[in-house]
Amino acid sequence: MSNKISIWRKGFRKLIRYSDELIEEIRSSNDIVDVISQYVILKRSGRNFFGLCPFHKEKSPSFSVSPDKQIFHCFGCGVGGNVIHFVSKIENINFKETLELLANRANIALPTLDTSYQDNKKAMLKSKVYEINEIAAKFYHETLYKPTSKEAQEYIKKRRLDNRTLKSFLIGYSGTFDELSRLLKEKGYTDEEILASSLGIKAENGRIIDRFRRRLMIPIQDATGRFIAFGGRVLDDSKPKYINSPENIVYSKGRNLFGLNIAKKGDTKKIIIVEGYMDAISLYQRGITNVVASLGTALTENQGRLLRKNSEQIIIGYDADGAGQAATLRGLEILQNMGCDIRVLQIYGAKDPDEFIIKYGPERFQKCVDSAISLVEFKVKILKQNLNLENVNDKIKFLNEVAKILAKVDNNIEKEIYIDKISEEYKISKEAIYGEVNKLIYTKTNDQKILQRNPVKAYIKNEKSEKVDESIIKREKMVIYILVNYPEESYNAIKNTITPEDIKSELDKKIIEKIYEKYESNSTSDILDQFEEEEVINYLSGIMADDFGITDINKCIEDLLNTYNKEKLVNKRNEIIKKLENNNTSEETAKLEQELNEIILKLAKVK
Ligand code: GTP
Ligand code: MN
Repeated sequence: MSNKISIWRKGFRKLIRYSDELIEEIRSSNDIVDVISQYVILKRSGRNFFGLCPFHKEKSPSFSVSPDKQIFHCFGCGVGGNVIHFVSKIENINFKETLELLANRANIALPTLDTSYQDNKKAMLKSKVYEINEIAAKFYHETLYKPTSKEAQEYIKKRRLDNRTLKSFLIGYSGTFDELSRLLKEKGYTDEEILASSLGIKAENGRIIDRFRRRLMIPIQDATGRFIAFGGRVLDDSKPKYINSPENIVYSKGRNLFGLNIAKKGDTKKIIIVEGYMDAISLYQRGITNVVASLGTALTENQGRLLRKNSEQIIIGYDADGAGQAATLRGLEILQNMGCDIRVLQIYGAKDPDEFIIKYGPERFQKCVDSAISLVEFKVKILKQNLNLENVNDKIKFLNEVAKILAKVDNNIEKEIYIDKISEEYKISKEAIYGEVNKLIYTKTNDQKILQRNPVKAYIKNEKSEKVDESIIKREKMVIYILVNYPEESYNAIKNTITPEDIKSELDKKIIEKIYEKYESNSTSDILDQFEEEEVINYLSGIMADDFGITDINKCIEDLLNTYNKEKLVNKRNEIIKKLENNNTSEETAKLEQELNEIILKLAKVK
């Protein structure tokens, strides 16, 4: 199995090779949790999903799937890899067939001889549109500071946005007529490209003018930080309040979340999703950085996947009005089906998070986040809104519906806690609730208990049973783990200190060489796709699935580099000491001694 081999398509004499970019697009369009869920029952436990391994017989689940790393690994039998490896293995098909299957699943057209020219053209246009969007974002941002943009500056003041926030989100102000379009033309962009970006529109006389005029401009970036669209807000109460970029060659509302690229820079173990750009921006400014906004549509599964990939718990913070509540229920339904841990934010005394945090401050907002309610509690609350519990009929109805909601809760302890809460809050005896729930309890066949992963040693099959110290293997695995997961923080520092020759295990050396190669060539493809041998893929996925208990990554890198630096110095020192034992001329001895002194000094510093 390899992506390096060129792939022949039946009936053609000419060679068509699937590019690394295409392979990467196919991989990233097939979420690993979704795909594996078609074959294995998965349950969430902490950051990962667990289930019974489909590749070996087992009674308790040791097969793990990581939504954030997009890998699977079985701690029982040692198999692992990315979504392509999984499908290839379980369907028993080769690399090319797997790509076809997954491309088909994600509605990605594979190139044929007649389409590859078109595809190329499309790819070129896309990259131009990304460029244009970035130029526009910067242009609008600069415009905001010009003396002629007083109105916008006053509006910013009124909304209490500070300068740091304007910079973080690159908030801007659009021109009055065709300033951006003219700038883009000057820079050599064609009408076709400007229209494709949706930033220019064709006026009746055929000339290109700006779509956004005299609006506060909020750039929308994708999860990797590329500029894909804009929201433009009026400065007064006129309608429409927002004009947003329409969907185009680079922008799809349902596949993106506003603010995700910025939130991702901080802790997103929990992530809050709000309705408005302004809510997200306002919370961010006041220190609540784990926040994203939907893009003016109901939550989609694709957005759910983005959330699931980046966080363990999702807190829905939609507006308190009726529309907000309906949107909350729909969002909950989608996220629940995707196996997400969800909560609902409850705020009182303000119509939306922006108003709340301005009125009551970040501490009180954080308290609301910490006490956000579960799906069950939210459903019970909605139920109650339409009933009068003083009325006997309503009370019976309430009890029946509550029982239905509770019967779906798998976990008995959880169920007990809810029953306690509901009993107290709505003044209904626990016995009455239990009675109704027990009537409804389904016989659950699928009662597998998910165990926390115990640290079973990942199965290592080292070639030629080379004898490398356990502690050294552990250290080398850590180097690999850090290089894969924290490239920005670690790559430059590590490559300058640790060369492949410093790596003792042949397998580790091979992997590290490939990682260096990948980063040197700025390749975007998945590291797991760089290898062909199953053993290497299994071994590497095992390392990636581990977490090494890293709390401070920079400190960790520093320690690691110190260890290697020290070891190198010690080796050098021993070498010199050995040389000194030989019969040297006094000149040679003096030189060696001086070298030795230098090394000893350096060693003292490393400590
Ligand atoms: P402010 O009213 O300035 O606080 O903005 P907001 O971002 O809080 O907006 P709001 O809560 O009213 O609406 C939520 C989201 O719906 C916005 O961020 C937009 O994405 C979208 N939206 C709101 N109004 C319009 C509109 O008039 N047209 C379009 N296309 N989208 C809108
Ligand atoms: Mn608002």
